[in-house]
Amino acid sequence: MSTSTITTQKVTFKVFRFNADEDYLPYYENYEMEVTSEEVVLDILNRIKWDHDGSFSYRRSCRHGICGTCAIKVNGKSTLACKESMNGLVALFGNELTLEPLSIKRAIKDMIIDKGDFWEKHEAVTPYLVTDVNEAPTHENLVSPAEANTLDEADLCIQCGACHYACPVVAINEDFFGPAAFAAAYRFEADVRDEDGTDRISAMNESAQGVWDCVKCFECQEACPKEINPIEKIGKLHNMIFQKDVAVSNVATRHAVGFHHSIKRFGVLDEGGLVLYSEMAGIVKHIPVAARMFVKGKIVPPWGITKSDNMDEIKKLVASSTTAKF
Ligand code: SF4
Ligand code: SF4
Ligand code: FES
Repeated sequence: MSTSTITTQKVTFKVFRFNADEDYLPYYENYEMEVTSEEVVLDILNRIKWDHDGSFSYRRSCRHGICGTCAIKVNGKSTLACKESMNGLVALFGNELTLEPLSIKRAIKDMIIDKGDFWEKHEAVTPYLVTDVNEAPTHENLVSPAEANTLDEADLCIQCGACHYACPVVAINEDFFGPAAFAAAYRFEADVRDEDGTDRISAMNESAQGVWDCVKCFECQEACPKEINPIEKIGKLHNMIFQKDVAVSNVATRHAVGFHHSIKRFGVLDEGGLVLYSEMAGIVKHIPVAARMFVKGKIVPPWGITKSDNMDEIKKLVASSTTAKF
């Protein structure tokens, strides 16, 4: 039988404190603790409340990484408190750790935030199966393993909000659905039993709220404690928008189409052609930059592009990698 040694180390926690009913501004309080190698962040939150200040507030329920209530930030890193080991965090950041809520601007009391915007976005993407339910079924509605696999683990989302509050677009655009809502939309769009038609996917295509306003920073992928990888689902929603024929012409959709054409034609990216295709009339504002890039050899005219040596292979890959209508 293997035995593991429990070690302890001193850690200073700088903890965000704020009570929206009493405080004008938030402040930070320091707690020094001996932390054991067996503890997770939730143990520390409990000890602050139980041993130091009974008014300290945070959310937790299952303690098994399932309910999604305990997500906070440690040194800016989104963390599921009941899952994240103290050992790992100390190894990453050292012995001074700052505990903060997922969103400081939404703080109500200490680690507790108002997640109203998160739930509104979730509700807005129709996060359920739209189908005519037979109220007297004679057999199970079976889904094959291959069909279940297309959900790509989006169904494992625990609605913790870590990705949502890590997203820079959510922070500045109150219309943007956000990565968790996109993952939920994908989960039902990809379900073979769903009969929503084009309503849900059309909402994904709308400017400001939809997938085209994602800046592809991958913060949501970094933040997710369940490895849902929302940015990957956003990419799949892009394809579904074309497959379901609801794409409308805008800079983002033309960019996707221009990219496809460029690779199919040259096997490499035609930067100049891509901007021209994406921007159309809006190209005028890029002319000064384009001229400087041309002079520096950063962009070349189509007749100057050296095609890839593997065009046959690339054409096969392009044909096999998409079923989208362009
Ligand atoms: S990749 Fe897109 S959805 Fe994810 S955090 Fe960045 S902007 Fe937000
Ligand atoms: S996608 Fe991941 S980070 Fe986002 S809400 Fe779901 S579980 Fe949390
Ligand atoms: S307490 Fe439920 S996920 Fe952490």
